[in-house]
Amino acid sequence: MKITIFGSGYVGLVTGACLSDAGNDVMCVDIDAQKIAQLNDGVVPIYEPGLDELIRINKEAGRITFTTDIDSGVAHGLFQFIAVGTPPDEDGSADLQYVLAVAKSIGERLAEYRVVIDKSTVPVGTADKVHAAIQKELDLRGVNHEFDVVSNPEFLKEGDAIGDFMKPDRIVVGTDNPRTSELLKTLYAPFNRNHDRMIVMDIRSAELTKYAANAMLATKISFMNELANIAERVDADIEMVRQGIGSDSRIGYSFIYPGAGYGGSCFPKDVQALARTAGQFDYKAELLDAVESVNARQKSLLFNKIMSHFDGDLKGRTFAVWGLSFKPNTDDMREAPSRVLLESLWGKGAKVKAFDPQAAEEVQRIYGRRDDLIVCDSADDALIEADALVVVTEWKAFRSPDFDQLKKELKNPVIFDGRNIFDPHILENEGFVYYGIGRGASIY
Ligand SMILES: NC(=O)c1ccc[n+]([C@@H]2O[C@H](COP(=O)([O-])OP(=O)(O)OC[C@H]3O[C@@H](n4cnc5c(N)ncnc54)[C@H](O)[C@@H]3O)[C@@H](O)[C@H]2O)c1
Repeated sequence: MKITIFGSGYVGLVTGACLSDAGNDVMCVDIDAQKIAQLNDGVVPIYEPGLDELIRINKEAGRITFTTDIDSGVAHGLFQFIAVGTPPDEDGSADLQYVLAVAKSIGERLAEYRVVIDKSTVPVGTADKVHAAIQKELDLRGVNHEFDVVSNPEFLKEGDAIGDFMKPDRIVVGTDNPRTSELLKTLYAPFNRNHDRMIVMDIRSAELTKYAANAMLATKISFMNELANIAERVDADIEMVRQGIGSDSRIGYSFIYPGAGYGGSCFPKDVQALARTAGQFDYKAELLDAVESVNARQKSLLFNKIMSHFDGDLKGRTFAVWGLSFKPNTDDMREAPSRVLLESLWGKGAKVKAFDPQAAEEVQRIYGRRDDLIVCDSADDALIEADALVVVTEWKAFRSPDFDQLKKELKNPVIFDGRNIFDPHILENEGFVYYGIGRGASIY
């Protein structure tokens, strides 16, 4: 099948790579000429496990191409995916300018039947706007070509995106037209062989389903962080509580890890956008507002603990920071808790020696070169002459360090563990001062 995908970011590239791997003929279109040049040179501009290999194989087989040429893109695919960004507007609502720009581009060129598939995360009612934007261009041109607009939200998670796309829990399709639902059934058949994972519904429900999923996951995290902060005050250990409630099958173990707050390109903006949509319909989404404010507070927690340990005097101190990406297995630092920490430390005159297995280039891209940021080549390098170690992202490689070495390198044996990856009792026996998240007052 011929497929065009507008937007070659995390979602567009993963969608393109996986659909081409199933034998389709995929054309990826992006307005970022540098990105497209890189992709044509065989360089994948983001880190996502397995993605570069999948793109390489399918590029060599001629099943995936990359271009900035919108004319070719609209002419190519029966299926026209929109997978561009929907960043937060100034008021927190989703900024639809990129989505609607693609719709306009399609309308300006549409010459035969097309299925326009909205994969970006967009507020309820966006499919109508996309439809109207395309129709407007057809009217201006005085032509009348058929097209359908479908909502097909993406649920992949960065770090395991290919697995999620290849073996999805569900494929949500929002359409009011049986013809398009049949076409999408055919398109997704290779990913649907084991059992039917496609859930077809009306367009508005599909659009809301994506926000509901992200808001639910964000709520679980903020709930657990709230509990962790209570545990800390009442001298309980949140890790015991986590196991105690996770064992309840109605609750489950996933997404109940306390930590330094959620980040990334999705949860923060989607929770805000959903609350904003609710507001536009005269409903105050109090739970969603609380989920966000608990998270904002949590992102400052590590810094507050550091301040309290060093009596508010961080000037001239150096901190080893392990982990910069918003979660392991990605280089994505959008809304990452590490950014709040780094900026707060710098604000107090401290220096940061940071190590991340994948986000070294990204942190340098965001902050540029500065004297108070040293990006290290290894976790060990970051420790040398540091006043304390702060763990912000739970990369696997950080979980079992050589604690003797760690004590030797650090100026003070102090660890701030923003993801509870270490056992406080072992560390205390090793002579460290240990700060975790919600780990009982007696061990602070
Ligand atoms: N990243 C995730 O994990 C994830 C998961 C599910 C859903 N989503 C949603 O998918 C959408 C895309 O997210 P992303 O993380 O892939 O974004 P991204 O920022 O990584 O990529 C977006 C790409 O779109 C391109 N673009 C912008 N305008 C364009 C246009 N007119 N024509 C062609 N390309 C254009 C940009 O240059 C960029 O390369 C967002 O709505 C996001 O909320 C993201």
